[in-house]
Amino acid sequence: MTSLAALILASLLQVIPAPAQMQVRGGSFKLAPPSEDKIEFRLDPSCPLPAEGYTLEVTRSRVKAVASTEAGLFYARKTLEQLEENGRIPCVKITDYPRFAWRGFHIDPCRHFLSVEEIKQQIDILSSYKMNVMHWHLTDDQGWRIEIKKYPRLTEVGAIRTEFDGSVEKGYYTQEEIADVVAYAAERFVTVVPEIEMPGHALAAIAAYPALSCTKETVHPQITWGSPDIVFCPGSEFTFKFLEDVVDEVVALFPGTYFHVGGDECLKTKWEQCPDCQARIKAEGLVADKDGTAEEKLQSYAIRRMEKILAQRGRKLIGWDEILEGGLSPNATVMSWRGESGGIKAALAGHDVIMTPSKAGMYLDHVQGDPKVEPVSIGNYTTLEKAYKYDPVPEELTKNGKEHFVLGLQCNNWSEYVYSVSHRQYMLFPRAFAVAETAWTPKEKKDWESFRTRVDKACQALDKRGVNYHIPIPEQPGGSCDRLAFQEETTLELTTTRPVKAVVYTLDGSEPTASSARYTAPLRFAESAVVKVASLTSYGKLSTVRTISLTKMAPWPSVTPDLIGGLTAERADGRFCTVADTKDATWTPVKIERLRDLATLEPFNRNLPDSTRFYAARAKGAFKVPETGVYRFSSDCDEVWIDGRLVIDNGAAVKRFSHQDSELVLEKGAHSVQVYFLYNVLGGWNSLRNKPDVLINNNKINLIH
Ligand code: ACM
Ligand code: ZN
Repeated sequence: MTSLAALILASLLQVIPAPAQMQVRGGSFKLAPPSEDKIEFRLDPSCPLPAEGYTLEVTRSRVKAVASTEAGLFYARKTLEQLEENGRIPCVKITDYPRFAWRGFHIDPCRHFLSVEEIKQQIDILSSYKMNVMHWHLTDDQGWRIEIKKYPRLTEVGAIRTEFDGSVEKGYYTQEEIADVVAYAAERFVTVVPEIEMPGHALAAIAAYPALSCTKETVHPQITWGSPDIVFCPGSEFTFKFLEDVVDEVVALFPGTYFHVGGDECLKTKWEQCPDCQARIKAEGLVADKDGTAEEKLQSYAIRRMEKILAQRGRKLIGWDEILEGGLSPNATVMSWRGESGGIKAALAGHDVIMTPSKAGMYLDHVQGDPKVEPVSIGNYTTLEKAYKYDPVPEELTKNGKEHFVLGLQCNNWSEYVYSVSHRQYMLFPRAFAVAETAWTPKEKKDWESFRTRVDKACQALDKRGVNYHIPIPEQPGGSCDRLAFQEETTLELTTTRPVKAVVYTLDGSEPTASSARYTAPLRFAESAVVKVASLTSYGKLSTVRTISLTKMAPWPSVTPDLIGGLTAERADGRFCTVADTKDATWTPVKIERLRDLATLEPFNRNLPDSTRFYAARAKGAFKVPETGVYRFSSDCDEVWIDGRLVIDNGAAVKRFSHQDSELVLEKGAHSVQVYFLYNVLGGWNSLRNKPDVLINNNKINLIH
């Protein structure tokens, strides 16, 4: 066989992660019921490959895998499973081993709980792609998820969250369940790293044991996303006694070397006021200097104490990169999430690091296409390609001979905006496959063009298991909108974040199928239409369908501004999930200067105490458009009415990245606008964090005063 033919064949073998070396020979091995004796998996301590490596040779007559470890044989088997097609395994010779020792994925049951079954499924799938660390984020402000026998209120109180709308989010893992998951993972050569967050992100624990905080006030597990400023008190000995007791129970469940103590996003405002914290600062001689404030030194003190507690139990401390603040504890491993700089600094100082930079592609909670067409998310932007192209070894480390301190990389799968199992799968796959390839495959063997074709087979394997995943949704270049308007005629242009086999659409209201019309050039419309559009994959599956309406309309006539009057607003106190809930509310006038002020009628409080005064507000005014034409409206307000007609209705949706943008044709001159804004918390989003403007063609609407 020519080398070109071998190369083409190799690219047809859709193995992820791509093996370090793979030669494809002609022919195949046929699997048959008695073929077991022709398949050999041999443990050979003299096999010269790095740990976890293996060789795999498939000829027409036999299959032979050799490795020096059980893990290596497991990975050989996983490669073999991917090679198999209709009972045949192509003849290959593979020599394979990992680039990195830490090939991690992270799960966040604190914001939205994952069942044991769901966790096992993730372990099962991701270990098949040779990932080998599961970072289990077990405690946070919104939930404490691990049973600690000495402190039962952690789960009695800290594992239950009553949301704004009265619904309850709860769940925790018993110690038996934890042990079961750890054992299940071990069988698949996955080490589970527990994370117990301190000193911040600890509100659920403090809700259970208020004495753990500086102010000792009564709190509830947090119902909003973001960090409260009520955190553990490192001035108090009870805090360390508690943490030491918790560590004792946790290390008994997790045999791995590493223990994650969090350390991120700890607001230190309470420490500044706390007599115990200030006494500790004094007693320990913690003084502000170029390395940080006295309170940052106090955080560093707390982490160092944790490091000692862990070392006494034979464990190594890992923390998020904030543990660098105020000085890194001597043997800490740093998980670099706020970019790579924390990781670089730590590695240059001789510390091990795990790279998981959020904005460089390792945060799989980021949106993976136009936020107007993708489900609500935390934002940012991480396409499959971006996740794939991340490399965890910065040049600065290679230049300084410190690259070996990078143990590997990890994707983090935070679940604030993940409201169902299938949505979690949608965020995870296929981007986690990209991370798996970077973690395993030699850098020089990585190739995006090859990967994006190979990923289709991995996605089909997910289909077989009934697991959901992301397929690019057709979007409009320059910004998507499902409600378009035009006067005479218009065009609709579509694209996708990565190539798909085709974009298919219908115009008769039916759902698109693989044989629907194919989009080849911008669609032209002279009459109103409803377009249903989806991406079609190489294997015949469709993405989420988008329904786009294009409405031919005469311009809405302008009105005399005097008839509308200036900006007026009213407020009604109460807990309202939707505008319809305000039907019997009592409204009283309030004075505002601009629409944005609707979100400042109560102060923003990150801790949301019981005394919080939620409210509804509505405002009316007028604005002018300079020319007769098409205008696109967008708003995170609950409702926007233009000229007396409801144009944006965000319903009970989480009020971020409004999905209800709408176009209108307006006549030159003045038009009326009315908005409703509700201060509430839906899906964990505190709406006071919005700026309740109305945008017209992406600019703030200019109200006539
Ligand atoms: C983090 O994302 N706060 C580690
Ligand atoms: Zn304190």
